[in-house]
Amino acid sequence: MIAHEQNMAIYPLMPMRDIVFFPYVVSPLVVGRGRSIKALEYAMANRLEIFLTTQFDASVDSPAPLDVHKIGTIAAVLQILRLPDGTIKALLEGRRRGRVYSFVDNKDFFMAQVREFPVEAVDEFQIVAYQRNLQASFKKYVAGNKNIANDVAASVSKIIPPAKFIDVLASHLPVKTAEKQTVLQTIDLAARYELVLELINREMEIIALEGAIHAKVKKRLAKNQRDYYLNEQMRVIKEEIGNGRDEPGNELDELAERLKNKKLSQEANEKVEHELKKLRIMPSSSAEATVVHNYIDCILSLPWYHKTRKKLDINKAEKIMDEDHFGLRNPKERILEYLAVQTQVKRINGPILCLVGPPGVGKTSLCKSVARAMGRKFTRLSLGGVRDEAEIRGHRRTYIGAMPGRIIQSLQKVKVNNPVFCLDEVDKMSADFRGDPASALLEVLDPEQNAAFSDHYLDLDYDLSDVFFITTANSLHNIPVPLQDRMEIITIEGYTEEDKLAIARGFLVPKQMKTNGFQAGEVIFNSDSIMEIIRQYTREAGVRNLERSIASMYRKIARHRLQNNKTTRYRITRRGVAKYLGTPTYRFGMVEEKDATGLVNGLAWTAVGGEILQI
Ligand SMILES: Nc1ncnc2c1ncn2[C@@H]1O[C@H](COP(=O)(O)OP(=O)(O)OP(=O)(O)O)[C@@H](O)[C@H]1O
Ligand SMILES: [Mg+2]
Repeated sequence: MIAHEQNMAIYPLMPMRDIVFFPYVVSPLVVGRGRSIKALEYAMANRLEIFLTTQFDASVDSPAPLDVHKIGTIAAVLQILRLPDGTIKALLEGRRRGRVYSFVDNKDFFMAQVREFPVEAVDEFQIVAYQRNLQASFKKYVAGNKNIANDVAASVSKIIPPAKFIDVLASHLPVKTAEKQTVLQTIDLAARYELVLELINREMEIIALEGAIHAKVKKRLAKNQRDYYLNEQMRVIKEEIGNGRDEPGNELDELAERLKNKKLSQEANEKVEHELKKLRIMPSSSAEATVVHNYIDCILSLPWYHKTRKKLDINKAEKIMDEDHFGLRNPKERILEYLAVQTQVKRINGPILCLVGPPGVGKTSLCKSVARAMGRKFTRLSLGGVRDEAEIRGHRRTYIGAMPGRIIQSLQKVKVNNPVFCLDEVDKMSADFRGDPASALLEVLDPEQNAAFSDHYLDLDYDLSDVFFITTANSLHNIPVPLQDRMEIITIEGYTEEDKLAIARGFLVPKQMKTNGFQAGEVIFNSDSIMEIIRQYTREAGVRNLERSIASMYRKIARHRLQNNKTTRYRITRRGVAKYLGTPTYRFGMVEEKDATGLVNGLAWTAVGGEILQI
C-alpha cells in the first residue's frame, strides 16, 4: 500500500452508470449491482469513505478498471437502507474530488488508490464576479425552466461558498452525463465557473428556442383547427341550404351553360365572361363569390332579345278592348290609333300614354286590356310611395345587398323585352334626399334615351325601346312638368249613373257571378236594384265600390242558399237590396218638395259627380 503518500488513500470504488456525483452534494442513490453493494457495505462497516466514479458507457454491466473515469468524487456513506427487493438505498455525501492513481486487487469489489485534489487558492474578486454572473443567469434559467423544482432552485441560490455553489448547481443541470463529468474534471475553479456559465446559457437558449417552436406549433395547430372548424361549419351550412346538391363546380358550369344558350348584348356577353373568370378563381364560399354569382345570374335572367312575336290585328284589338270595358270611347280610340301607327313604323317616337282619372274608372284594368289586345305580356309597377331613385334604377354593385331597380326586376319576371308595362300611379311618387325618382323615370320614358337605359346595378346598357309603357294617375297636379311633357294625357271622366248601370249589368255582375260560383239566371238583379246600390250604397266616380257591393251580395246569397237548402232563384229588387247590404250608407239627394223657410236647393259638382245641396 502506498497510503502514506500525501493526500492519497485507498477507498472502495463504486462505478455509476450515468450519474456524476459532485462534492458538497448530499443525495440518496439506489444501488443494485452486487459488487457495488459489497463496496458500500464494506465502507459502512469500516467507516471508510467511498470513491464514486462514472462509467464511460452506461450500458456496461460489470465494468473493468478501464471502463470508468479516473476522476471522481470521494464521498461519505451516511446511511444504508436495504430494500425488500435486495437493492440498497444509500445516502451519500460528496466531499472532495479525487483521481484514481491505481487499482488495488480485490475479488468482491474494486479498491482504488485515490489522490485528492488539494483545495486550491482562488482569486476572490474574479470568483465573486463569476458568482454574481452565474447567480443572475441561474435565476433566469430557473424562471424559464420547469424541470428544476422551486425549492431546489431556492436552496441552490442561497449557497455562498463559490466552490460549493458551482458543484451543487452543476449537479442539478439537466445536461448530458459526459458534460457533467467535464465539469467535475475541471479542477480550476474559475475555469469551472466559466464552463458552467456556458452550459447554463446554452440551456437557456435551448429553452427559448423550445418556447418559440412550441408557440409556433401551437399557433399553426390553432390556425389549422380554426380553418378546419370554419370549413366544417361552412359545409354544414351549405348542406342545410342546398341539401348538399349544389357543388360549386356545377354552379359555375351551369352559369357557363346558360351563357352559351342565351343571346345577350355584346357588352353583356363580355361582362359575364369576365365575371365568370373572376368567379372561377374565388373560393366558392366567399361572400364576394355570392355577389358575383348573383350579378351573373341577374344578367342571364334578363330578356335581352326575347320578345313576344305577334302581328297586331287592329280590328281584333278593338274587339278585345270592347269586350273588357264599357264605354271609354276616347281612351280606347287613342290607344287604337297609337297601335295603328306602331304597325306602320318600326319604333314609336311619340309620347307615352298617360291615363288620368278618378279611382276605379278602369285605368289599370284598361292597361291590362291593351296587353291582351296586342297579344303581349303585361307587367305592372306601382310607383305609389316610391321616393328613391335607386328603386327605379338600382343600387351600385358595391353596396351590400345591392339589387337591380324595379324596372329591370319586372322585366326579369315577364321574361320578354316587349311587354305592356303599366307604370301605375305616377302621381304618387315623391322626391326626397335620396334622389328624385321622377328624373329616373324621365330616362325610362324618353324614347330618345331608353334604348340605352342604364341600371346602376346592371352597369350595362339595356334597350327598353320595345317596351310599351302606359302610365296612370289620379290627377295631373303631382306629376312633375318635365314628365308630363313626355306623356300624352288621356283623361277618363267619372261615370254617370247610366254608365255605371251599364257597366254593372254588362261586366261587374257577370264577373262576380263567375267569381262566386253562380250559374247564369240563379241570381237576377233588376235595374232598380242596381240603381239602388249605385245611389244609396256608393258615392264614387268609378265603379270599384259598386263592384265590391255586388260581390258582397253574391257572397251573402251564397251563404243564405247553403244554410236554407234553397234551389230557387233569387230575384233582387230595389227593396231587396237592404236585406243584403243593410241600411244605406248615403242619402241620395231628392229635392225637398215642400218649401221650408231658410232652405234652398242648390246644385254642386264634385269629383264623384253631381249633387244636390240643401242650404
Ligand atoms: N268601363 C268599364 N267597364 C268594365 N269594367 C270597368 C270599367 N271601368 C272600371 N271597371 C272595373 O272597375 C274595377 C276598378 O278598375 P281599376 O282598378 O282599373 O281602377 P283604376 O282606375 O285603376 O283606379 P285607381 O286609380 O284607384 O287605381 C276593375 O275591376 C275594372 O274592371
Ligand atoms: Mg289603378
